[in-house]
Amino acid sequence: MTELHPSAFYRDASGQLTVSGMPLAEIAAAHGSPLYVYSGDGIRQDYRRFASALEAVDGTVHFALKSNSALGVIAMLANEGAGADIVSGGELARALAAGVPPKKIVFSGVGKSADEIGAALDAGIGQINAESPQEVDAISQIAAARGVMAPVALRVNVDVAPETHEKISTGQRSTKFGVSISQNEAADLYRRMHADANISPAGLAVHIGSQILDLDPFERAYSALLHFGTSLREEGLPVPILDLGGGIGVDYENGTGTDFTAYGQLVARVFANSGFRLGFEPGRSIVANNGVLLTKVIYIKDGDNKRFVIVDAAMNDLLRPTLYEAHHAIQTIAPGGADIGPADIVGPICETGDYLGRDRMMPELGAGDGLAVMSAGAYGAVMASSYNTRPPAGEVMVLDGVCHVLRQQRTVESLLAEESVPDFS
Ligand code: LLP
Repeated sequence: MTELHPSAFYRDASGQLTVSGMPLAEIAAAHGSPLYVYSGDGIRQDYRRFASALEAVDGTVHFALKSNSALGVIAMLANEGAGADIVSGGELARALAAGVPPKKIVFSGVGKSADEIGAALDAGIGQINAESPQEVDAISQIAAARGVMAPVALRVNVDVAPETHEKISTGQRSTKFGVSISQNEAADLYRRMHADANISPAGLAVHIGSQILDLDPFERAYSALLHFGTSLREEGLPVPILDLGGGIGVDYENGTGTDFTAYGQLVARVFANSGFRLGFEPGRSIVANNGVLLTKVIYIKDGDNKRFVIVDAAMNDLLRPTLYEAHHAIQTIAPGGADIGPADIVGPICETGDYLGRDRMMPELGAGDGLAVMSAGAYGAVMASSYNTRPPAGEVMVLDGVCHVLRQQRTVESLLAEESVPDFS
């Protein structure tokens, strides 16, 4: 996929790194460090680009909350008309709190608990994507107890390898996801759903993985889904929706916006005149390049043959480099001098795996200098933890020239207040 659109994060005439013209140094001074900064303008623009690339097809966009579930981000996207793709009762509560209309909520995931299914039915959400016969039965029973019909789509496994990192590949039969379309397993289950008095079959869903940069795996998966959906229709079964999942990759090297045009053309071509309504669940491609993690240098440590830049953000704030060896560009927020050599940018956590970037060419740096870890808008703050009793970073969003606080940094006091100590006396 070609990447055409400039980043919301750029340097102004004086060389300061800005978010839509607002210097990140000012934001850091006002809101502290470490801090997630999102470009609301960029997120809104990328959502609009996605929606308009798919204008030619009859489809609904459900933003994948798992990529960034700040209420302020969800609410802004809901305002743009986006629905929500959720994977837990917690994300259901977030979607509702942010004002997403229940009918525009899709519930994905392999392990929905009875409480979560009940909450989804009580809220009247639009679609539950079931992933196993046991789950279909559980949904049916919970719906029966409430005297409602559950709108259930079946997530199928089309056995397509997405050519991405193995930890985020979901398309092959060897993974835990979906019901296989080979050997009648999925067809039999869909027939059972149709015969079930408490289930209204909503269609089929597929999601083959994430950070997919090549269109070919999408084409193979979508063609298999279309073929399977058509065969069910030919039996006379209702298959209103084909939910195509998410997975479109982004350019982590350059941070430019994704051009969705080619993806839109592929979808239009595969599903032309098929008569299915389509669903989309993009996450990363809407938010990844519209967020940075701001951090500050604490010390510079010259190792034997290495320079370590020790910063105040760590793997508890941004886990992706440690977990997936993911590359995030790292830039100085002030006008940077000439590079003086490579450095590892590491956090204060007591693990060698605690790094944000390794062997990066960096200029001379000193204590207090600000750095921006780029492309951190997706799977950043949502994957944070309080490991080492480090309160996870706060989040702000710049929209229309105003910097809004979305979430304060947690405090040590609030972390301790969640716990209790047994009475040992
Ligand atoms: N729909 C379903 C059913 C999913 O499982 C996912 C992501 C999405 C949609 C959104 O996919 P996206 O458009 O964001 O690629 N933590 C990993 C990514 C995990 C993705 C899991 N599923 C990372 O940091 O790369």
